[in-house]
Amino acid sequence: MNDALKYKIVSLVLAIGLLASLIHLVVSQKQATQPEHKRAAEIVMQNILSRKSVRSYTNRPVSRAQLDTLVRAAMAAPTGMDTRPWKFVVIDDKNAMQQLAAKLPRAKMLAEAQAAIAVCGDMSVLSKDGKPSRNWMLDCSAATENLLLQAEAMGLGAVWTAGYPYPDRMEAIKSALSLPDHIIPLNLIPIGYPKGDPQPKDKYNKDNIHYNKW
Ligand SMILES: Cc1cc2nc3c(=O)[nH]c(=O)nc-3n(C[C@H](O)[C@H](O)[C@H](O)COP(=O)(O)O)c2cc1C
Repeated sequence: MNDALKYKIVSLVLAIGLLASLIHLVVSQKQATQPEHKRAAEIVMQNILSRKSVRSYTNRPVSRAQLDTLVRAAMAAPTGMDTRPWKFVVIDDKNAMQQLAAKLPRAKMLAEAQAAIAVCGDMSVLSKDGKPSRNWMLDCSAATENLLLQAEAMGLGAVWTAGYPYPDRMEAIKSALSLPDHIIPLNLIPIGYPKGDPQPKDKYNKDNIHYNKW
């Protein structure tokens, strides 16, 4: 066998080896990502189904870092035209929460909570048409659900207590938190580690679904 032929055979063997390694890499990456996706889907669904309103809390403290994570989750929500017409007031002063609890009969659990977050619409944020957002309560609702889901995932308990659309509750929150006029409180979310063993409700109902036509 002459040198030229040897060279060709070695090159061919190397090329086949390289191709085989590449195919192996692509196939193994695909196998690794599929179960990863499946696992993520299961974890997310489990978290959504586990979320429940929690209205009683232990004395275990909740840190500002944890509260910041909740607000970060809230701000990841979608908003109409990406206007993000929101502000978040984080409350971890026990006196302030006692005062709020006294003013809000539907949010008495604030007295026991470690912290609370008021999700507010910001009317100074203008939409593309130059007017204040008409979607603020929808955008802030999406943010609130993100926040509640993140709280659930962190082992925290929380509950949406209404501000908007009740004028008396909105006014109570506004005055307690010194909110300026362009900031409208959609809700106030007490937060703490759950006391007892609150359980989620199973709300799935096939009758609420229509496929293609009513
Ligand atoms: C717009 C809205 C307003 C609510 N207001 C209050 C409230 O003022 N006080 C309260 O204890 N729960 C309030 N909730 C919580 C509901 O009572 C609760 O979500 C509902 O009973 C379903 O229970 P779950 O959250 O455990 O699935 C409110 C929820 C929403 C979405």
